Amino acid sequence: MAASRTQALQGCATWSRLTMHVICLLAMLFVMGITHQLQAQGTAPPYPFDAGPENTLGNQSDSDIWRMIRQGADGLPSSSEVVDGVLINANGVGWSELRRAEGPLIWYGGLGLAAVIAAVVLFFVIRGRLRIDGGRSGKTVARFSLVQRVVHWIIACLFLLLGVTGLLLLFGRPLLIPIIGKSAYSVFATASMQAHNLFGPIFIVSFIALFFSFVRGNLPSLCDLQWITRAGGMFGGHASAGRYNAGEKAWFWTATLAGITLSASGILLSFPDALGTHDLLHWAELSHAIAAFVFIGFGIGHIYLGTIGTEGTIEGMVNGCVDENWARTHHDLWLADMKSREKGADG
Ligand code: HEM
Repeated sequence: MAASRTQALQGCATWSRLTMHVICLLAMLFVMGITHQLQAQGTAPPYPFDAGPENTLGNQSDSDIWRMIRQGADGLPSSSEVVDGVLINANGVGWSELRRAEGPLIWYGGLGLAAVIAAVVLFFVIRGRLRIDGGRSGKTVARFSLVQRVVHWIIACLFLLLGVTGLLLLFGRPLLIPIIGKSAYSVFATASMQAHNLFGPIFIVSFIALFFSFVRGNLPSLCDLQWITRAGGMFGGHASAGRYNAGEKAWFWTATLAGITLSASGILLSFPDALGTHDLLHWAELSHAIAAFVFIGFGIGHIYLGTIGTEGTIEGMVNGCVDENWARTHHDLWLADMKSREKGADG
């Protein structure tokens, strides 16, 4: 009885061992099948290397593995966002080097703007305010329509708002955080971001209106060459010009190109998820920053010449009329044209 009980127990143990082996085998087959299926769909953890970190099983070191990943090995990032199926985007590492707080973008951009401000101050010190030849005549001539002035001042306000908020976002980390601290800066940065996102689209629409309001008169002409060779009469002598001189035309076309670049890259930056690739995002960010520096640098010169730099210029943009002697000094060909039209209308 006892012997048959022992035999039965041994048989039972043999069966349970056998059952365990079968279950294990089935489980292994199941895991292998799932892995194969996932790999076929391209979502399984990849096995581009023979070894895991710490060189536990294979023959590759950690540095080899990380180098392969940086060079663009495909895989499943731990982040929920899979961009191009690339674990580490090596270009992104280069971009963050360029964009970091003490990086070349901020450094050279800042130096460029400082150089423009220094040049404007130096010019003012050497040359002073450019006066109207022969003083004011007391007679005025119409220069800008109401629509032109309204569009111009809308763009001027947007330029200042977007310029200040953009520079706060770019230079905030290296310049403001050491002075006001991280939490105060985060308030400025959030407000700047919101303002930038709000005014950006308004800028695009207004800029199109500005282009069509001012393009007439800003097309190149032969007398621009003479104006350039005489440096616009800024260092003495007289340089003839039509409705706009070569300097103003250069500003108009630079602003147009910068405006197009800023608008296009700004739209791309507003919808980063739609881009699908980080590389395009980096190019958009870089061209946005470069166009902004060029626009702001040129804009500083324009604002200086439009206000304290030259006597009587701001009047045209404020009340629409300029003194006749101002027109004779800076835009003599345009004044002659206006006079002959007046005569034609009278006659
Ligand atoms: C606070 C900033 C600004 C001030 C004080 C200012 C001032 C002036 C003044 C006084 C004029 C008249 C020049 C003349 O009679 O020949 C003018 C013209 C003009 N401004 Fe501005 N401006 C400012 C910002 C801007 C901005 C941001 C733009 C953007 C593109 C711009 C575009 C123009 C254009 C296109 C003209 C017509 C002359 C030309 O085509 O170059 N201005 N500005």
